[in-house]
Amino acid sequence: MSLSRRKFLVRSVQCIVACGLFPGLSACDGITREEVTNGSVYDELVSLIGRERTEILWYASFAPSSHNVQPWTVSIKNPDNWVIGSAEDRWLTEVDPQNREMLLSIGAFLENMVTAARAHGFQVNIRLLARNPFDPELLSIELQNAQRMEYPLQRLLERRTVRTVFKNEDIDSQDFSFLVGGEEGFHYYPRYSTQAVWLDEASVAATKLQIERENVQEELSRWIRWSDADASKYRNGLTPEAMDITGLAGWYVRNFYGSRDVLGKDFRSATVERVKQQVAQNGGWIVITSENDRISTLIETGRCFERMFLRARDCSVGVHPMSQALEEPLWSEKAAEMLRLDKPPQFLLRVGYIRDYPPPVSLRMPLDDFTKLNENGKV
Ligand SMILES: Cc1cc2nc3c(=O)[nH]c(=O)nc-3n(C[C@H](O)[C@H](O)[C@H](O)COP(=O)(O)O)c2cc1C
Repeated sequence: MSLSRRKFLVRSVQCIVACGLFPGLSACDGITREEVTNGSVYDELVSLIGRERTEILWYASFAPSSHNVQPWTVSIKNPDNWVIGSAEDRWLTEVDPQNREMLLSIGAFLENMVTAARAHGFQVNIRLLARNPFDPELLSIELQNAQRMEYPLQRLLERRTVRTVFKNEDIDSQDFSFLVGGEEGFHYYPRYSTQAVWLDEASVAATKLQIERENVQEELSRWIRWSDADASKYRNGLTPEAMDITGLAGWYVRNFYGSRDVLGKDFRSATVERVKQQVAQNGGWIVITSENDRISTLIETGRCFERMFLRARDCSVGVHPMSQALEEPLWSEKAAEMLRLDKPPQFLLRVGYIRDYPPPVSLRMPLDDFTKLNENGKV
């Protein structure tokens, strides 16, 4: 028997026994962050640009992104000059044809990078390079030595999207102030407000439209990593754990589901049911608006979102971006009016208190997959 087949059988038996006797035990879980390496470029980068700069890149990569595509690239021109760009093969052309969400994700990546850089004793000077959202090069980064700024970097690693088990309890005004940190553009709608009810309904209705759009489902199917083998090969996209399919159900889909299942009727209707269950549980919605839709503003809004997200665990608030209503024109075109906003909404976040904040589960690509050294491999 081949090693992988034996491993599969052993793990399956462990899982069935463990899940049957003790639901929730880890034998049923898929690949975890601890099981994957930093990649071979990590050590090479440490020798070329130093451990601290390498760690900054690594911390940055734990930023959130739609479908966990991790759209960022970093070209290392020299130890202190980097160019952040986006990889075309990681754009979501169906749900995000204008690369709006891509730019928001790049903003979150930049925020992690700047936060980690400050904590390592660097100031970061940023210059916008892109003239349109499809330019491969977006930002020029220059690192300068500065005084270290204390920051609990563990927050970057522990931040996670939470999709289930929110308490139906409004967010306390002190917690909202803590989350927002005095920044502008944040709007909170308590659970039974007209706007929150509209967001619940719009999310379900937009999902119903999306499951009927063949290209959207195909795009999604390319980003779901059902098997452990795919999860460790790509280290991006959505694993069953990241979608909160855990325990025996997680084991089943990891071993018996494939990308074609995403196109099947059962998966589509289960998606709508899941969204209905999600919106039935919440402590309201936080909407983040931006001044306009310019590239620099969207990147800045992504940074703002990430600063808030990084504080969420400290006040036990789960954050679930639900973008479907902004992805479907039927809903996005009336969102500002329905939410009584005079600026464009960029993030729709279902929020709620959580009793036991779960550990992070989404995977990240090794530095090899998004960092480029100069042609000759030297910097
Ligand atoms: C711009 C943006 C849009 C997102 N939209 C959704 C969404 O519509 N539905 C969802 O479940 N998660 C959404 N997410 C969350 C991502 O799926 C999540 O960040 C990614 O899977 C990585 O997981 P993590 O946040 O736990 O690290 C979004 C994230 C970003 C940055």
